[in-house]
Amino acid sequence: MLLSALFTVLAAPFARARQDASSLPTLHLADPPHQSYLNAGLSQQASALQNLTLGALSSVAHTVLAHPAFPEYSVRIKKSDGFCDAGVRAYTGYIDIRQARHLFFYFFESRGDPETDDVVMWTNGGPGCSSALGLFMELGPCRVYDAEKGPMRNPYAWTESANVFFVDQPVGIGFSYAEYGERVSSTEEAARDVAAFVAIFFETFKQFRGRAFHMAGESYSGRYIPLFAAEVYDQNKRLVETGMERINLQSIIIGNGYTDWVSMSSAYVDMVCTNSSVPPVASISSCVAAKKAVPRCLKWAQEACIDTFDAINCAAAQSFCNTRLWAPATGLNLYDITKPCDGSIEETMCYPITTQISAYLDRPATRALLGVDPFFGSKNFTRCSDPVGDAFVASGDMLQAGATTEYVAQLLERGVRVLEFAGTLDWMCNWLGNERWTRGMGWSGKEAFGRAEMRVWGVDGETAGEVRSARGLTFATVYGAGHMVPYDKPKEALALFQRWLANEEL
Ligand SMILES: *[C@@H]1O[C@H](CO)[C@@H](O)[C@H](O)[C@H]1NC(C)=O
Ligand SMILES: *[C@@H]1O[C@H](CO)[C@@H](O)[C@H](O)[C@H]1NC(C)=O
Ligand SMILES: *[C@@H]1O[C@H](CO)[C@@H](O)[C@H](O)[C@H]1NC(C)=O
Repeated sequence: MLLSALFTVLAAPFARARQDASSLPTLHLADPPHQSYLNAGLSQQASALQNLTLGALSSVAHTVLAHPAFPEYSVRIKKSDGFCDAGVRAYTGYIDIRQARHLFFYFFESRGDPETDDVVMWTNGGPGCSSALGLFMELGPCRVYDAEKGPMRNPYAWTESANVFFVDQPVGIGFSYAEYGERVSSTEEAARDVAAFVAIFFETFKQFRGRAFHMAGESYSGRYIPLFAAEVYDQNKRLVETGMERINLQSIIIGNGYTDWVSMSSAYVDMVCTNSSVPPVASISSCVAAKKAVPRCLKWAQEACIDTFDAINCAAAQSFCNTRLWAPATGLNLYDITKPCDGSIEETMCYPITTQISAYLDRPATRALLGVDPFFGSKNFTRCSDPVGDAFVASGDMLQAGATTEYVAQLLERGVRVLEFAGTLDWMCNWLGNERWTRGMGWSGKEAFGRAEMRVWGVDGETAGEVRSARGLTFATVYGAGHMVPYDKPKEALALFQRWLANEEL
């Protein structure tokens, strides 16, 4: 989801940063020259991992796949049919990278036609939240409302017309883990693992090779997905050089994304101080105070984060912006400004279903069924990892505002379509801020997109939201939805998704 980490993240660590900017942990902003795993691992004549028949996999134990051409990787995979969606083939497992990084995935074949339907990767945000939340709460084939009763079929699953895999990434969250002290603290690093994962995924599930592929996520995935997709796109050259089939990346899909925090800054005030989604919910005095800080915030962020990037000064700018511009929203459910938080952030993340999901994933029977590594022992499932979230803050990943939209622009220039959709009641990654970056981003379609009208779209004769679209970029709002659109508006979210995949107008 969720920037649950954002709460920890944006509230606590920034408080620390504010006190003493020089105490920020080491920044890893300049990555060393990119030595890809694939370059390191592939011989010239690389062929398939192994000629695996998926039907032959065991549902009891993992089958371990390895191939001499991929010394860096192995795959542990098992059949996990039926636990979530009767009659649909499902697999769970790990892609093991250099025996040190282990990425857990769930893969569900389409309820439509698995042989022709597109393939979609979904990841949640945080940074540091498990994709089990997306799977069991939002768009997966089943939902876990009650841990004892177990999963219930979700009629609005995105698997209605796509093959969908959910990845717990980066390592250190959900059922993914790292050994030998390895960890990931930036989106750039995570992107390398994800791109390698995607390449190996298509080698493993070889009947899906060459299939139209979409990378999707929400919240902090507004930063993840553009970088992951860029890595997958650039990786294709190396795949082809080594005799592998290129990944047929068609689009990226972002729900309530944290793509450009600077665009979001003034929107934080507008969301609760103007009638842009609902009548103003904040006090006049808090709105007046916050609005006064907007020009300084924007000027400072522009200078320290965008025109040139100075990590310490940019962190100070973000801290100033967050402290001053978030104040009017104090006490609200930041994922839906019209509803009280159900429970507490720490316990339920405002949505009690998340505690049921955790409890379900703590059951030994569930873990055996999913093939969760013994590494986790009796440790409780963690929905969002504080250490991972903190590491991303410490690395400055959350500050990289202008840089993320540049990835989006570059994808668009190469014909990779981009969908940003946003529930209008979410404050955390609100539609206003997202609309601003989609319009402000510099790319060859900027003018056409700026001229495009915002028009209503609907489902079954009912208005569902508004949409603007041009040259492969689409921005859509979903009325009545908060941060997790597929949870709040499952029917509308599925219609949006299906029309997008079919390349139809919304
Ligand atoms: C996989 O199948 C192809 C042809 O279907 C064959 O040429 C190749 O030798 C097989 N590879 C392995 C590792 O069995
Ligand atoms: C607020 O927006 C709603 C919906 O667009 C509109 O009906 C209402 O008149 C607006 N209120 C004010 C005070 O502008
Ligand atoms: C794991 O979760 C259970 C039930 O929520 C709780 O009672 C227990 O203290 C937790 N264990 C740890 C190690 O956090």
